[in-house]
Amino acid sequence: MNFMKRILLFWAAALLLAACSKPQPQAFHVIPMPDQVTVNEGVFPVAGALVSYDDQLDSLSAKAVGRFCELLQSATGKPCNGKNGKTIRFGFNPNLAAEQYSIEVRPEEVEVEASALNGFVYAIETLKQMLPPAIYGGKPAKADWVLPCVSILDQPRFSYRGMHLDPCRHFWTIEETKRYLDVMTAYKLNRFHWHLTEDQGWRMEIKKYPRLTEVGAWRNGTVIKKEWGSNDGIRYGGFYTQDQMKEIVAYAAERGITVIPELDLPGHMVAALTAYPELGCTGGPYEVWTRWGVAKDILCAGNEQVYTFLEDVLTEMMEIFPSEYIHIGGDECFGGDAEPDRPDPWDICPKCAARMKALGIKKGPQAKHYLQNYVTARVQEFLNSHGRKIIGWDEILEGDLAEGATVMSWRGVQGGIAAASKGFDAIMTPNGFLYFDYYQSQERDKEPFGIGGYLPLEKVYGYEPFDGISAGAEDHILGVQANLWTEYIATPEHLEYMLLPRMCALSEIQWCEAEKKDFARFDASLDHTFAILDAMGMQYSLDCRGKIGLERQPARNAEELEAYLAKKDWGW
Ligand code: ACM
Ligand code: ZN
Repeated sequence: MNFMKRILLFWAAALLLAACSKPQPQAFHVIPMPDQVTVNEGVFPVAGALVSYDDQLDSLSAKAVGRFCELLQSATGKPCNGKNGKTIRFGFNPNLAAEQYSIEVRPEEVEVEASALNGFVYAIETLKQMLPPAIYGGKPAKADWVLPCVSILDQPRFSYRGMHLDPCRHFWTIEETKRYLDVMTAYKLNRFHWHLTEDQGWRMEIKKYPRLTEVGAWRNGTVIKKEWGSNDGIRYGGFYTQDQMKEIVAYAAERGITVIPELDLPGHMVAALTAYPELGCTGGPYEVWTRWGVAKDILCAGNEQVYTFLEDVLTEMMEIFPSEYIHIGGDECFGGDAEPDRPDPWDICPKCAARMKALGIKKGPQAKHYLQNYVTARVQEFLNSHGRKIIGWDEILEGDLAEGATVMSWRGVQGGIAAASKGFDAIMTPNGFLYFDYYQSQERDKEPFGIGGYLPLEKVYGYEPFDGISAGAEDHILGVQANLWTEYIATPEHLEYMLLPRMCALSEIQWCEAEKKDFARFDASLDHTFAILDAMGMQYSLDCRGKIGLERQPARNAEELEAYLAKKDWGW
């Protein structure tokens, strides 16, 4: 080798070395991207490090640390006993806000600080994403078990970071629901909106009204695709016992997630009407719906029995769900699309007419909206008197909405904009950006059959919740949520495919300040994300990579995953 070649080789090697030892911030693949991150030189070896925590940690925070320690032990194969002479310390810092945390990773020790459960949970999730993805696998794995040296101070942009699930159109078991909560935890979401009642199935045990689940939880078949006259002939249903719902509440609470249950009223009630026909305007008979769409039959607003029923159901719900908010639905009460020629029951029901008259509601097309306001206000008053607040779909804003209600904007952003300008709190779930039942590709024939729409990953990511909100009203936007309706989603694989990675994009809308969002950076982190989801055994869509459809199972083939997990250089 001549002298010049040697010099060139020397410099090439030196440059390579420098590149390896100087971590590049762009190689930091945590989603949602923490607020402040500095990547420093060096690494911390986690295998065999002692995991310790301050006495001041509450029991759930200590339990979260315990789960992290167990994960480390099972993945690295070494107990967290400090045999390697290193420590990961979880400390209590009252100066940090409840969802804030800091992490200092130095070659000798890791120091995590937070003041409450959510902060500790998010610190742990950030640490997990900085480790090799095999940490999510729950079994011993060969990997380079080090954390990059970093300094992180992190907190969310919005306090309400929700994900919704519809277990009514298709039913999800407790185990499947826990998996949903697991992936929500990984991406730092903190509200689980559980839509528990529908025309096609009532899903929660209510002891005072056993027929709700004996009758209302079961339908005689399901429509095939959108062939409205069809029925697959397969009896379908299921429900959660009160103990099971409490189990979900506790599981979520341990992960910093509040469960917000929804009792959708006065519409979307055909399953309840089938069980108790006297609650409807016509008296029935009704049949738990076997098709999708908007039903004509709703609760009768003129029947006092209906309010007793609602208060009884809400009383049992409040015993199960400690959440400050109860979602009371309120969507799609009128104009049912299945029977376009039939009048809305509230327009012709003598009991509803008498109630309108007693309330001084003038006749006309708006009358039923004011009657809905009355129903909403009665339920709101009842819940407020028990220290709870209501959230309702944006239809509750039509007419006169009582003070203190929170509006969930789903028919686009207008409901949220109007609510905030009138001084109501709002949660943004606009269908054009955050309805995860929409297709992810324009090549629909390659995707599983769906409801319609087109919502690719980049469009989700690009949503900005303050767009259109007048200056000074931003504080009324509590946060952001995506909704996952399941008319056309019948299996857990399909559910996860629709959820992921769009929920990861959602997490950056919810967590990151607007100026910290960057689709190119997010996109560059997706390989790492996919490896994490693979290790969790989750399905996800690769439509954003041009691989359309759910047919590829497992999500990536075993060799691809193995190669990724065995990767030596993580670019730290
Ligand atoms: C809704 O999507 N009907 C709230
Ligand atoms: Zn009526």
